[in-house]
Amino acid sequence: MFKSSASTTRYLSRGFAQRRLASTKTVRDVLEEVIPKKQLQLKQLKTEHGQAVLGDVKVEHVVGGMRGLKAMLWEASVLDPNEGIRFHGMTIQDCQKVLPAAPGGKEIIAESMFWLLLTGKVPTEAETRQLSRELAEKGELPEYIEKLIDSLPTTLHPMTQLGMGVAALNHESKFQAAYEQGIKKSEYWTYALEDSINLLARLPALAARIYRNIYNPGKPIPKINKDLDLVGNYANMLGFGDNYDLTEYLRLYIAIHGDHEGGNASAHTSHLVGSTLADPYLSYAAGLYALAGPLHGLANQEVLRWQMSMQKELGDNISHDHIREYLWRTLKSGQVVPGYGHGVLRNPDPRFMALQEFCETRPELLADPIVQLVKKTYEVAPAVLKEHGKTKNPYPNVDAASGCVLYHYGLTQFKYYTVIFGVSRALGCLTQYVWAKALGLPIERPKSLSMDAIEKLIKQ
Ligand SMILES: CC(C)(COP(=O)(O)OP(=O)(O)OC[C@H]1O[C@@H](n2cnc3c(N)ncnc32)[C@H](O)[C@@H]1OP(=O)(O)O)[C@@H](O)C(=O)NCCC(=O)NCCS
Repeated sequence: MFKSSASTTRYLSRGFAQRRLASTKTVRDVLEEVIPKKQLQLKQLKTEHGQAVLGDVKVEHVVGGMRGLKAMLWEASVLDPNEGIRFHGMTIQDCQKVLPAAPGGKEIIAESMFWLLLTGKVPTEAETRQLSRELAEKGELPEYIEKLIDSLPTTLHPMTQLGMGVAALNHESKFQAAYEQGIKKSEYWTYALEDSINLLARLPALAARIYRNIYNPGKPIPKINKDLDLVGNYANMLGFGDNYDLTEYLRLYIAIHGDHEGGNASAHTSHLVGSTLADPYLSYAAGLYALAGPLHGLANQEVLRWQMSMQKELGDNISHDHIREYLWRTLKSGQVVPGYGHGVLRNPDPRFMALQEFCETRPELLADPIVQLVKKTYEVAPAVLKEHGKTKNPYPNVDAASGCVLYHYGLTQFKYYTVIFGVSRALGCLTQYVWAKALGLPIERPKSLSMDAIEKLIKQ
C-alpha cells in the first residue's frame, strides 16, 4: 500500500552507496547549502503567488478546530490522509531502507531522522556517527537541572517534569543570549540550531533522570557513552541498555514519532511559541504540554490502561466477540476508544503498521497476550467504530500499538510513555524552529471571530 516514490527508488539504486562512503559534512554545512535555495523559493512564492488561493475558509473550519484548513508552512513532513506521513517526500518504508541505523542495529535512529528532517538529505553513515558523537558529547545535564528534577515530588506527572526541565534549560540558551546582544535576523538560525542540538542532546539524560527518580529511586544512572547513538544512550540510562530488542524498538519508535507535519497540537504549539522569538527551549516546553493531553500524546498511556483493564476483566484468551462487546461498552459510556481515529488520517496509520511489523519479526512478542490483544482489537475495532458512525477515521493511529511492546520488554510504567514521545517529537519541532528562523517567518497571529461577527459576515 505504501510504495517507495520513483525518485527514492532511483536514489536507492544509484547515489546512496556512493554517498555513504563519500561525505562527512556536518549538519550545519548542509544547512548552509540548502537554506539559500529555500529562501529563494519562499521569496518567489510570496512575490509571484502571494494572492493564489489554496482553499476556502468555512464556518466549519472556524468552529471545528481548523480541521483541514491549509494555513501553516511546515517543511519537514507532509501528511496525506490516505497514505500517511512522508518526511521530505519519503515514506517510513523508504526511510527504513536508506537512513543509517546504529552500529549493529537495523532500525532508523534519531540522528539520521533529524538530519533528514533538517536538511531534506539522507546522511551518510559517517555523518550520522559524527552527529551521534556530538550529541553524546553535549548530553550531560547541568547540575542545576539535576537538582531541579530531584526536588520535584515523584507523584508529579513525568510529562509535567519533562516540560519543567526543558523550560529551565533555557538558562543555557545561545539564541536568547545572542538576541539580547542584538544579532541580525539572518543569523538567528545558527543560534537556533546550536540550541536545538544542545537540547536534543540533553533530552535523554533529562528523561532518564525523571524515570529513575519516580520508578527506581537511588539507582545510579550510567554516564553517557560517547560511542553510542542518542537512543542507545537513552535506553542505557533508563536501565535497559542490555536489552537489544527494546533498544531497537525505542530507536524505531523515536525516529518515526519525530514529526507528523505541523498542524498537530504539539508541533503547532511549539511553532506558535517559537514565532514570538521565545527560544527553542521555551518553544519546545510549550509543545510538550500540548503533547501531554489525552487526545494527543497521552493516548499511548491511555491505550495500554484501556487494553489492560479489558484483559483484566476478560482474561487472556479473549474472543473477537468479547472485544466487540467491550468496545461497545466503552463507546456507550461516552468515552473514546483510545488509539483509534485521527484528525487527518483516513486509513490505518503507517506508523502503527511499522510497529506491528516490528512485532511480526519477533516470536516472543507475538506470543505475548497483551500484544495479541492489541492485534485482535485491530481486527474488530474498525467495524465497530464504523457502525458507531461518529469518528471520521475508524482505523488505528500509532498509539494503538506503541505501548504494548514497551510493556512486554519490562518498561511497564505507562504513565511514562508520553515522555518517550516527548524525546522524539523534539526532532520535528526543533527542525521547524530552525527553519522558521532561516526563512524569517513572522509571529503567528490568525484572526479570531465571535459568533456575532461570524453571523454578520454571513449576512454580508
Ligand atoms: C484523534 C482524535 C482526537 C481526532 O479527533 P477529531 O479530528 O475530532 O475526530 P473526528 O472528526 O473523527 O471526530 C468526530 C466524532 O467522533 C468521535 N471520535 C473520534 N475518534 C473516536 C474514537 N476513537 N472513539 C470514539 N469516538 C471517536 C469524536 O469524539 C467526535 O465526536 P463528537 O462529534 O461527539 O465530538 C480522536 O479520533 C480521538 O479522540 N481518538 C482517541 C484518542 C487518540 O487515540 N488520540 C491519539 C491521536 S494520534
